[in-house]
Amino acid sequence: MRGFITDPAAQAGLRLADDLPEPTPAPDESVVEVRAYAANHDELNLIARRPDGWRPGQDIAGVVVRAAADGNGPAAGTRVGCYLDWEGWAERVPVPAHCLAVLDDRVSFEQAATLPVAGLTALRALRVGGAVLGRKVLVTGATGGVGQFAVQLAVAAGAVVTAQVSSPAREAEARALGAHQVVTSLEDETLGPFHLVMDGIGGPLTAQAVRRIAAGGHLAWYGNIGGPAELRLGDFYSQGWNAHIVGFISPVPEETKGEDLSILAALVADGRLTPSIGLRVDWTKTPDALDALSRREFRGKAVMTVSDLR
Ligand SMILES: NC(=O)c1ccc[n+]([C@@H]2O[C@H](COP(=O)([O-])OP(=O)(O)OC[C@H]3O[C@@H](n4cnc5c(N)ncnc54)[C@H](OP(=O)(O)O)[C@@H]3O)[C@@H](O)[C@H]2O)c1
Repeated sequence: MRGFITDPAAQAGLRLADDLPEPTPAPDESVVEVRAYAANHDELNLIARRPDGWRPGQDIAGVVVRAAADGNGPAAGTRVGCYLDWEGWAERVPVPAHCLAVLDDRVSFEQAATLPVAGLTALRALRVGGAVLGRKVLVTGATGGVGQFAVQLAVAAGAVVTAQVSSPAREAEARALGAHQVVTSLEDETLGPFHLVMDGIGGPLTAQAVRRIAAGGHLAWYGNIGGPAELRLGDFYSQGWNAHIVGFISPVPEETKGEDLSILAALVADGRLTPSIGLRVDWTKTPDALDALSRREFRGKAVMTVSDLR
């Protein structure tokens, strides 16, 4: 079977191997034939850190080719999206029932592949704020893989959304996602106060965001792409008395990953959530896509399609 493995000597640290073992599923696992997958910023770091021969791949969509032996999970032939820990960038992969969502015919494999890590991060980080109807929500890095979903989901939940983007060139994209206000900096003291901040940037932006939180509000902090953050107690005393910072991680809780993926896939099917796909390539070009991701040459998600199955 073919699939990508880590190889420090190869482009982007990744090589397409053709001698991988076929999946040997546990009784509660279906075997899914992969039709599309997406790459996440964090996977760049994982590929660099893992030893030779490690197999990346968290976000996949495809077709069940063998149903789980224990009778749980979908029948062979069912279209599914899956949130895996690893090994997904291959022709076939074993998937536990709690990690998959059945796809409506209106959701393409490419769209479904964008949803697991980025979509669950946005959905679950939004829940940190509880009811957001009519409340102000700030999303940092709003045109990135997670940010695009965070803006759309917060708007869909009725929030008044401020999108922070890296430059004026991104403003139109953030407006197209539905943001009510778009900013390139958080220095303006009149911004907010925000009931919820969804932050994947870190660095100096996090302390600025804390200074814009409402009293008792929340900051769901899931990324440090802008570097380490330095916080002072006084940052909370601007207006965010008794505010909360949540060190957020998307795969927890593990047992409801498929359930949450189903929510996102249903929103896509209904046209209420539109994955932004900035790069589409054949899966053999995955190293090119990872290079483009590390250089941020596109917005939204990079999706690979697996069309030449043997
Ligand atoms: N904790 C978790 O479970 C979890 C899950 C998913 C992601 N994450 C983290 O969340 C962050 C975003 O991930 P992603 O997949 O959305 O990455 P991504 O697709 O690469 O998007 C990153 C976004 O951040 C923006 N950005 C980068 N540096 C910035 C800066 N200094 N100031 C303002 N904006 C900046 C980029 O803007 P430009 O395109 O304009 O450069 C882009 O919009 C990463 O840190 C990732 O590690 C964490």
